Amino acid sequence: MKSYFRPEIDAIAGYVPGEQPKMPGLIKLNTNENPYPPSPETAKVLHNFDIDRLRRYPDPTADKLRDLFAADLGLKRENIIAGNGSDDLLTMIFRAFTAPELPVAVFEPSYSLYPVLAAMQGAPVYRIELDRNDFSYPADAVKQAKDANLLIVTRPNAPTGNCVPKELVRQYCAEFDGIVLIDEAYSDFAPDNCAELATEFDNVLVMRTFSKGVSMAGIRLGYAFGNPDLISGLMKLKDSYNLDMLTQEVAAANYADKNYRQECLKKILAERERLTAELSNRGFAIIPSQANFLFAAPPDGDGAGCFAHLRENAVIVRYFPGEVTGKYLRITIGTPAENDRLLEVITSKYPCLN
Ligand SMILES: Cc1ncc(COP(=O)(O)O)c(C=O)c1O
Repeated sequence: MKSYFRPEIDAIAGYVPGEQPKMPGLIKLNTNENPYPPSPETAKVLHNFDIDRLRRYPDPTADKLRDLFAADLGLKRENIIAGNGSDDLLTMIFRAFTAPELPVAVFEPSYSLYPVLAAMQGAPVYRIELDRNDFSYPADAVKQAKDANLLIVTRPNAPTGNCVPKELVRQYCAEFDGIVLIDEAYSDFAPDNCAELATEFDNVLVMRTFSKGVSMAGIRLGYAFGNPDLISGLMKLKDSYNLDMLTQEVAAANYADKNYRQECLKKILAERERLTAELSNRGFAIIPSQANFLFAAPPDGDGAGCFAHLRENAVIVRYFPGEVTGKYLRITIGTPAENDRLLEVITSKYPCLN
């Protein structure tokens, strides 16, 4: 059939999200979800929800949630926009700041959705390579970003798990003549974050998600904060009612229960440390992680083979083919029992060194 699509759409393969298989007994460590459920407060809200309210549209600007985030960050509601997952915010940000004559600069490797969104806009992509051994960041990134209008810094980075030093991000923000988006999807697992840069600079947006540290990938909620002029511009681009009513209610209840969340985070960080040590003892090379996953290369450098071996044994992790990334696997930190099973399967191919 003749294509009726814009040429840009015909040219792209489309983003392939991590698989969500439903096999019973499967150990699912492939999409960096939280292994623990949200706060029990969430269940109370759902239980008491008056379904008659669903006849009405939700709050179009999610003010209750924005106020909650604002209070936490020492900002105002006007500094914050909420999205249907941070992917929704990324769509708005690419529509706002990229076009055929407005390129975007991304680090390589980083979140593979960014170039897909750029392709939808017909926007050129400048790829700034991270160091091939330790995935550290170049000091001259802004020079490499040339005339880009948007520079995306993922911190901690995905899929590598390391953090670019905050002072280097500050330098990028000061030098770059465009919008710097700091994607903090995994910052709950890191020792620090870049929130202050959103007030220090007019050209900086910081973006977070409920999908990882807050344990709510299923409800789809992300938020971004920065200068009110940037936020009001983005508001023009969002779907009128981009956050449904249940999401707004349930997310607020879960977010407010900070103690519970901290307890879950502590358990994940302890397992991250254990898994790092155990995999090292099986000869894996591991990038020191500040996220809820490890980027780990098996001793034979055969990422694809190790991925297949795990899969045959019903353990699903993520594999990114490619000259640099193909040696590694990205392994989400699971519960202690899930991690034990992962180690058991790994040990059958790569025995302990001592
Ligand atoms: C770096 C990064 N940014 C954004 C997202 C999207 O998150 P969300 O579930 O909020 O759309 C992901 C999801 O894996 C991610 O890894």
